[in-house]
Amino acid sequence: MTRTTDPSCEQAFADWMHAIQRRTETALDHALPAVGIAPARLHEAMRYATLGAGKRVRALLAHAAGELVGAQPEALDLIACALECIHAYSLVHDDMPCMDNDTLRRGKPTVHIQYDEATALLVGDALQTQAFELLARPGLGVPDARRLAMVTLLAQASGSRGMAGGQAMDLANVGRRISRAELEVMHLHKTGALIRAAVLLGADAGAQPLPAAQREQLDVFSKRAGLLFQVVDDILDDTASTTTLGKTAGKDAMNDKPTYVSLLGLTDARRLADELLLDARTALAALGEAAHRLGQVLDFIACRSH
Ligand code: IPE
Ligand code: IPE
Ligand code: MG
Ligand code: MG
Ligand code: MG
Repeated sequence: MTRTTDPSCEQAFADWMHAIQRRTETALDHALPAVGIAPARLHEAMRYATLGAGKRVRALLAHAAGELVGAQPEALDLIACALECIHAYSLVHDDMPCMDNDTLRRGKPTVHIQYDEATALLVGDALQTQAFELLARPGLGVPDARRLAMVTLLAQASGSRGMAGGQAMDLANVGRRISRAELEVMHLHKTGALIRAAVLLGADAGAQPLPAAQREQLDVFSKRAGLLFQVVDDILDDTASTTTLGKTAGKDAMNDKPTYVSLLGLTDARRLADELLLDARTALAALGEAAHRLGQVLDFIACRSH
């Protein structure tokens, strides 16, 4: 990013972010089966994939959107855990030899390296169903009809019309030079869909549903933020070090992936990130001061170093 000051580094936001990261870690620790429960190796690997690291951006977005509607923090914890389970599953599968073939994730060996490929496959499967089990819990505290709509939203965001579909596009496009429109569709699916779900699920957890016009505004915001997230991921892959990223730098070029950096070059990819940040901020502005926290998470997405 081109700005000189980083608003995400304001102490109050940093304190809030760390508090949400900590409570998400605790909630995930409770939600995931203990290692002592059979099959122990699978449960150990699920915990290895999910706990101990990760920026928890999807949890931050859900909590920030939940603040907009006065949602209960405990309900937001369930949503945050569901999102982070889906996200962790997507990372485990993304790293497998049949996909990006990565050996390092969150500063540790990837699951298929630390365990084996079959275990990595099953960790993904089990984390995915764990997510839906969490979201279906009555503790969410919303009427059953809304809970069902929320489960549906997460299913669509994760499946063939969401993240998994985007991953299929990603694989199909290896070695190809695709158009900017195709790249946007791919990124909106593989990463944007879950980011959008994080924002909307947080906003759906209030006692009262958000008025339709405001939810629509939030939807526009979430799509810009989701695309921004992956544009920044593409930029960092090209510019940051393996140590900083906790995953192997330069993998996109190595794997011949179409990215915003390969399509536009670094300068224009950065310019696009700035434009998306502005678009997302504009969408939030219509929601007023209550969306302040979401704006801070947005700045963090744009300014992050890893
Ligand atoms: C990385 O996601 C994978 C993408 C969707 C680009 P994050 O950058 O959110 O990964 P963690 O959770 O912080 O490790
Ligand atoms: C992955 O995108 C998106 C997912 C759905 C996991 P990347 O392949 O760019 O993510 P990293 O760079 O390996 O984290
Ligand atoms: Mg990938
Ligand atoms: Mg990858
Ligand atoms: Mg990447």
